[in-house]
Amino acid sequence: LVASVFGVPLVVAVLLPLAVLGLPVLLVTSDGGRRIARLDAISEWTRNLASVITAGQSLEQAVTASVRSTPEAVRPQVTNLVARLRSRWPTEAALLEFADELDDATGDLVAPPLVDPHFHMDATLSYGLPRVNASGTLLEGISLWGELREIATVEEMVARAVRYCDWAVSMGLLAIRTHVDTTPDHLRGVEAMLEVKRRVAPYLDLQLVAFPQDGLYRAPNGRENLIRALDMGCDVVGGIPHFERTMQDGADSVKDMARLAAERGLMLDIHCDETDDPHSRHVETMAAEVTRHGLGARAAGSHLTSMHSMDNYYVSKLLPLIAESGMTAIPNPLINITLQGRHDSYPKRRGLTRVKEMQAMGITVGWGQDCVLDPWYSLGTGDMLDVAFMGLHVAQMTHPAEMARCFTMVTENNAAIMGLQGYGLRPGCVASLIVLDAGNPVEALRLRPD
Ligand code: FE2
Repeated sequence: LVASVFGVPLVVAVLLPLAVLGLPVLLVTSDGGRRIARLDAISEWTRNLASVITAGQSLEQAVTASVRSTPEAVRPQVTNLVARLRSRWPTEAALLEFADELDDATGDLVAPPLVDPHFHMDATLSYGLPRVNASGTLLEGISLWGELREIATVEEMVARAVRYCDWAVSMGLLAIRTHVDTTPDHLRGVEAMLEVKRRVAPYLDLQLVAFPQDGLYRAPNGRENLIRALDMGCDVVGGIPHFERTMQDGADSVKDMARLAAERGLMLDIHCDETDDPHSRHVETMAAEVTRHGLGARAAGSHLTSMHSMDNYYVSKLLPLIAESGMTAIPNPLINITLQGRHDSYPKRRGLTRVKEMQAMGITVGWGQDCVLDPWYSLGTGDMLDVAFMGLHVAQMTHPAEMARCFTMVTENNAAIMGLQGYGLRPGCVASLIVLDAGNPVEALRLRPD
């Protein structure tokens, strides 16, 4: 009603959600009676306003005239709004101030929690240790981490990871899948992340991927240590075929990991083709193996950056194979555009996989964070809205429906990729939700509020 009468998007953003979206928040507040009274007052005031405007008055005139009949519960705020309009405040600024004065979450966006399906928590918040990544490449990052993991203690890794989890929760990020390096024989990272998972369990869903960072076959004991990590309690089988010594070793590692996941009834999440090599073919092998073992959506291909550089004809064959397998995809836009293209002059490739094209084939695609303040990435806060914002730009998802989908990617899609049970705002789901200071998902991405 308000939208059709005023025809002003700002007014819709400020007033309509106040009247419509209040119920979920009211249900969880202790002073529900007072807030219901105020919601009723806002509703009555907006209805009166709409009828006056219909009679031909401008918005400003109608607001000014409405003071006398404004219900007591919101009269102080409306009186201030009128005073600002009379003082020649711009209408938009006056309405925004009005919204601030109401200071009521009933006008905000209620959404299920943010979810991150791709992270490296054993390395997070270690930026500069043992030194910064001078080349900015994936390979120097792997090398630096190889040094750091030998000097990092369990206690230090736990402390960094728990601190990051605190950051995450403060931003509404309540489920994270993290890859844990299983390369060193000491497996201190696995021990540390299992402890973190135990500590944060009351408030954050943490999935652990056994991740052979230096290769399943390339690293000494790579396969044995991955299996030890699974036996210790990791939830997901991981891999890195493009880092094996040969394409054949990479393909064999994918087959091995898919078989391991199928035999153990676990999920599979492979760092797959994280290169600029247009001839990297591990995602093709992965899709075939996922189909062979019937893993479907229990399997996710992370990064898939080589697809950015692949021949278009080849991709036209590849995408149906991925769709047929039912596997999901996790690009990591902040990291992909930072690490990829480092060997290019100009034009410089951006390295993001083909997101819209995969979605057009019905493939579930989420956005992952990957790194915050570690050997691979020198920035980051854990805010999944930043991740979606960057993904929106790099994938050129600028149509209103595409922008809204970017929000869905860091909520519902990521939850589906992680196989979270009871996720969502439907009856019967886990009562976990976030309130964002925005009128809708697109505005949430534009403003990225706390
Ligand atoms: Fe990663």
